[in-house]
Amino acid sequence: MKDQAEKLREIMRKKVFAVASGKGGVGKTTVSVNLSVELSRLGKKVLLIDGDISLANADIILGVSPKKHIGHYIQGNSSIDEIIERVDTNLYFVPGASGVAKLTNLTENSLKKIKDILSYFQADVTIIDLPAGIGKNAISLGMIADIIIVVVTPDPVSVTDCYSFIKVLTKSGFEGKIYVIVNMVRNQREKDVTFNTLNKVSQKYLGIYIDLLGHISYDESVKESFCLQKPYVKTFPRSKAASDIKDIANKMLQIA
Ligand SMILES: Nc1ncnc2c1ncn2[C@@H]1O[C@H](COP(=O)(O)OP(=O)(O)OP(=O)(O)O)[C@@H](O)[C@H]1O
Ligand SMILES: [Mg+2]
Repeated sequence: MKDQAEKLREIMRKKVFAVASGKGGVGKTTVSVNLSVELSRLGKKVLLIDGDISLANADIILGVSPKKHIGHYIQGNSSIDEIIERVDTNLYFVPGASGVAKLTNLTENSLKKIKDILSYFQADVTIIDLPAGIGKNAISLGMIADIIIVVVTPDPVSVTDCYSFIKVLTKSGFEGKIYVIVNMVRNQREKDVTFNTLNKVSQKYLGIYIDLLGHISYDESVKESFCLQKPYVKTFPRSKAASDIKDIANKMLQIA
């Protein structure tokens, strides 16, 4: 039974977004990190959670080296405050653990502890970077979110894997809104074909309506800033990818 205070905290809680994909390596983490930086610049108090709990790397893309991570908190060795890293004025980060096999299958109790972070911290926008695939952690952390952002690329394998993710998530009872970001697009046609294909199969076979949140161009600046270990909205603010992220962040403000 939830007590009154817990219910109230849940009502007060602002929007939680989870960034998912299906296929790995499509850009979930770079999207999560750069969107978080951009939303925080737009004045929102942002909490980025590395939900790739056992194979985390958002810290590297964000350019921070935290000492504590979510595993310390889940295993009872740290408090919530100890694992929330302040990165910038409005940007806070919960690091994941790297190579901790014990955390590849989150228990009900661990999930509850993660939900407690959300209601305790009260961010304006929370972004959870999910692991790839349709494994237990990806689905159960996705279920915590109000809104899912699926990242898909024009690669047909990415589209089918994304469809599988949406299928498993909705069959698990997810009832929130699902948005799509088409990443690594080289032209308008690629973006349209990719979104339309995913949209059609989701409607036809699952009865699910998805919406396009935006697209991000294929851009070498993204790879370069990956090597520099800094978000591309900081290192290459005038790049095409940075401009695309800004458009997406502005659109998110309308739904957050
Ligand atoms: N728009 C883009 N243009 C060019 N390269 C990109 C773009 N987006 C991401 N990448 C590159 O793709 C690679 C994978 O990105 P990232 O780690 O964010 O993917 P991921 O979906 O989080 O992967 P994983 O499934 O392993 O968690 C990185 O080298 C990144 O720099
Ligand atoms: Mg990732």
